[in-house]
Amino acid sequence: MINEQIKTKDGSISFFNKQYQEAYHSYHGAYTEALEKHVQACEIPSLSKNTQKLEILDLCFGLGYNSLVCIKEARKVNPNVEIKIDALENDPEVFSMMKECHDLNSIKLLENICIFHIGDARVKILELKNNSFDAIFFDPFSPKVCPELWHEDFIKDVVSKAKQGAYISTYSSSRVAKDGFLKAGCEILEGPKCGRKTGGVLARKI
Ligand SMILES: C[S@@+](CC[C@H](N)C(=O)[O-])C[C@H]1O[C@@H](n2cnc3c(N)ncnc32)[C@H](O)[C@@H]1O
Repeated sequence: MINEQIKTKDGSISFFNKQYQEAYHSYHGAYTEALEKHVQACEIPSLSKNTQKLEILDLCFGLGYNSLVCIKEARKVNPNVEIKIDALENDPEVFSMMKECHDLNSIKLLENICIFHIGDARVKILELKNNSFDAIFFDPFSPKVCPELWHEDFIKDVVSKAKQGAYISTYSSSRVAKDGFLKAGCEILEGPKCGRKTGGVLARKI
């Protein structure tokens, strides 16, 4: 199924996924959403300032915005920071779409830094080490169209991979997101609004 390219309000390119009938990003801005809802919400700049090595879990890599913006923002404040990103994604088609979204240097950055785990995130997550990530970008399609990735059992597995005190960012303010992260032992905060009435669930592992 060929997905449709869209231009979001900040000028960045995203896609509309025909299988899920949902866009990969909000129309407000693909780049802006990655920056505000994930990278800034997880405090990547201040984490990068105070560490030699950053370990990130990009859950649902998609078009790569969250990873790319994370690398750029981390290096702005600390050019020497070592960054490791485990990227989970089940659709190999994303790699050709990704090339339509970013310039060549950005693609190279992503290919050099990200460790791709291609397959169902519910299976692939079990291969990762517990308590090892400084931040997790949790970015599946919405609970309505992709309920399996918002199931409390999966959320529990996700939280088990975060270090204590680490943020897990989402764009969803749904009940299922709040309950899932609460049950998994997180404190629940409100993330940046980024063009919406309410911010998404920003979870912090206690
Ligand atoms: C909203 S998009 C992610 C956007 C992405 N974070 C970005 O910055 O471009 C959701 C992604 O989840 C992927 N996905 C859906 N079901 C999945 C599953 N069971 N396991 C892994 N990835 C899945 C889709 O292929 C899609 O790329």
